[in-house]
Amino acid sequence: MKGESSSSSSRGVMEKKNMAILPWELVIGILLMLPVKSLVRFKCVCKSWLSLLSDPHFAISHFQRLTASSSRLLFIAPPALEIRSIDFNASLHDDSASSTLNLNFLPPSTYHNVQLIGSCRGFLLLNCCQSLWVWNPSTGVHRKLSSTPIESNLMQAMFFTFLYGFGYDPSTDDYLVVKASHNPMSLGSATTRVEFLSLRTNVWRDVEATHLSYMNSSKGIKGIREGSLLNGAIHWLAFCCNGSMDVIVVFDLTERSFSEILLPVEFLDYESNCCDLAVLGDLLSICFGEWDHSVEIWVMEEYRVQSSWTKTIIVSAENIPAAMYFFPICYTKDGHIFGTDGWTGLAKYNGKGQLQEHRSYSQGSYRSQVAVYTESLLSFPM
Ligand SMILES: *[C@@H]1O[C@H](CO)[C@@H](O)[C@H](O)[C@H]1NC(C)=O
Ligand SMILES: *[C@@H]1O[C@H](CO)[C@@H](O)[C@H](O)[C@H]1NC(C)=O
Ligand SMILES: *[C@@H]1O[C@H](CO)[C@@H](O)[C@H](O)[C@H]1NC(C)=O
Repeated sequence: MKGESSSSSSRGVMEKKNMAILPWELVIGILLMLPVKSLVRFKCVCKSWLSLLSDPHFAISHFQRLTASSSRLLFIAPPALEIRSIDFNASLHDDSASSTLNLNFLPPSTYHNVQLIGSCRGFLLLNCCQSLWVWNPSTGVHRKLSSTPIESNLMQAMFFTFLYGFGYDPSTDDYLVVKASHNPMSLGSATTRVEFLSLRTNVWRDVEATHLSYMNSSKGIKGIREGSLLNGAIHWLAFCCNGSMDVIVVFDLTERSFSEILLPVEFLDYESNCCDLAVLGDLLSICFGEWDHSVEIWVMEEYRVQSSWTKTIIVSAENIPAAMYFFPICYTKDGHIFGTDGWTGLAKYNGKGQLQEHRSYSQGSYRSQVAVYTESLLSFPM
């Protein structure tokens, strides 16, 4: 016994020595390659690791290295508010590929009101009981955002918010939350009010948008639309009052200006039941639901070139019990299209539009909320 313990303690000394001769740069290099989950655990290894793993510069280098390999799905299903982080590359029936998260910074009685309205660089934007929160599910860091002047002004109560967006502006190293509201009572041309909040200042400002006149698209089952991030801009589907048609509204996060992208000409007078935007493999994509529960998925091969809209596949939700439509979210590693069934289910289709897997997460007629996020150690800008 005695001999054993002395040999294990001398092994301990050996290990310490080996650790000591590992150059610090090498330790950093190794840690940079590890997943966020491990790094969060490693914060308690020792003081120097804690300070390294809490260093914003380390978080940025780690984020830049790992973005390509660590995107997961955040899934929120009412009414019990099941919150999961899911590796969508694994089988949907593999429970080890998902973990349960909690929103313990919100009172449980408000859980059924939580809306997931944006995702950017590891942070998620949540709307709960008229308050906005930004949350990094990997580290647990969260912050309540200040409320907007619109909400605190009774005169403005006529406006209802129909678009939310959340993105990052590299030119100022800042995150922006964008919100567009529409006043249905106003008959003039400028009926849209746009505000944005900078996470650095936690202050809302109006976008100079006197000429904008958008409202919620009629082709949607969603009240509020969250934006899709691509090429440094947020994209939403909205109804353009001036042109009397649905368009893709684009907000450039650096320029802080609006522009439009036109939908495929085939759809200008098309009686689609519902439409949704997504970013599929770095291409802007739109899907159009047909009355028979099938969805046509189109991608814009060349950004902003209307003639480059290309129909890819038609995906039918008829083999999914009670499903309305399949809404694509992203591609998986093996080239399948991953998405939701419109309720609380997730599904995967192959490139030919054949159903590969489906899993329903809770009963009842609730709609789950989903967002792709990248695990990150990033903290809020100072
Ligand atoms: C799953 O695959 C996609 C597409 O290749 C990739 O971007 C993502 O990072 C992968 N996620 C994980 C957790 O490996
Ligand atoms: C737009 O959204 C509001 C509030 O959710 C809803 O009352 C209205 O019917 C919607 N309009 C259209 C055209 O979908
Ligand atoms: C409305 O659209 C027309 C073209 O369809 C354009 O000439 C005009 O400038 C637009 N008006 C506003 C206020 O944007």
